[in-house]
Amino acid sequence: MKLYNLFISLFLSASFLSASPTEAQEWPTQENLQARQTFSDNKFGIFLHWGIYSMFAQGEWYMNNLNLDNKEYAKAAAGFYPARFNAKEWVSAFKEAGARYICFTTRHHDGFSMFDTQYSDYDIVDATPFKRDILRELTDECKRQGLKIHFYYSHIDWTRDDYPAGRTGRETGKDPAKADWNSYFNFMNNQLTELITNYDPDAIWFDGYWDQPDTFNWHLEEQYSMIHKLKPECLIGNNHHVTPFAGEDIQIFERDLPGENTAGLSGQSISRLPLETCQTMNGMWGYKIADQNYKSVETLIQYLVSAAGKGANLLLNIGPQPDGELPSAALERLKGMGEWLKVYGETIYGTTAGDVPARPWGVTTRKGDKQYVHILSLQDNSLFLPVTSKVKKAVVFDTRKPVSFEQTKDGLLLKLGEIPQSTDYIIELTMK
Ligand code: GLC
Repeated sequence: MKLYNLFISLFLSASFLSASPTEAQEWPTQENLQARQTFSDNKFGIFLHWGIYSMFAQGEWYMNNLNLDNKEYAKAAAGFYPARFNAKEWVSAFKEAGARYICFTTRHHDGFSMFDTQYSDYDIVDATPFKRDILRELTDECKRQGLKIHFYYSHIDWTRDDYPAGRTGRETGKDPAKADWNSYFNFMNNQLTELITNYDPDAIWFDGYWDQPDTFNWHLEEQYSMIHKLKPECLIGNNHHVTPFAGEDIQIFERDLPGENTAGLSGQSISRLPLETCQTMNGMWGYKIADQNYKSVETLIQYLVSAAGKGANLLLNIGPQPDGELPSAALERLKGMGEWLKVYGETIYGTTAGDVPARPWGVTTRKGDKQYVHILSLQDNSLFLPVTSKVKKAVVFDTRKPVSFEQTKDGLLLKLGEIPQSTDYIIELTMK
């Protein structure tokens, strides 16, 4: 092993310690740790909620929210023909936006599979006139363009009788007498095996754990070790809204930055795993025609920066239209973010949280001997930072103009002068 590799390995094992599948082999393996590091470095991903629910244009919970009979709902599949879907255009737009990975809904709570599965006919190839394997096209394109691809996979099913209905999907016409956990569990594991062996994803992103009572046994350890046996570097995340379980490689937060809990789903403590926050661009995950309330480019950039300042990735959602196009409002946001990241990406990608924890004025990120002070909102002309390690140099990131500073044993006083109007005014500190 080269000295450099040895150093990287030691660093990785120290930074992402975690419990692991009950394997005799050493866990996490080197390739798993490397995948976690790459994930963490990538910082920005695009979440895609797309399925036959998009046709109703009311978001992905439509079947449950209106208590629709699943057999009536399923008829939408025969009309699903997203004529304008073009994987190359999508992935190019994500790449231009500065995203380094995407996470795609392979099967959401409605139970419809967006890939060619041999374990059900309720899928994009067998049940729609479109007949194209959307997941295959997207995955291939991501690999071609160098983006990582993550698969969202719901543990819930509002259509299959064998999934024992939990808190949701109680009025969707399932036959409770046919609930059969073993059969459902086998079905999921068969599909997951198919997904990993046929499509080679970089991560599986689970959702729906919260549908069952706390006492319910999801047999996650078995499922996780099956996945890791098939592909050790395939990361596992679970949007269960609690502290990570053994075998998970990343920790997910929904609609909130780690440590914040405005949406009520993120009271859990923060682990040492790589972190990811998923957030909507408007207010919905799946396409909702009435929701045009898109966050501004500035808000989204500041959210990405704030996530990075907490050491977390941002997984930013888009709900593609039923015709296969991305909403133009979303494309415009992507463009704005890409333009910003082209200039300032260096202060985001590959960073960890900086020495100063998030503050009302902004956050800090760190990479090597550099710390980036991201000022998102500040009324004053100077800024005190409790940075005690020695600072050698401070410059405005944009202009490279020196910033004068004083450092005492208590910290660092940056004398900024008038701060120009900016989405994120960045001061670069070079540490000794
Ligand atoms: C929630 C919702 C789901 C969405 C997910 C994304 O768990 O049930 O519709 O996919 O959040 O984070």
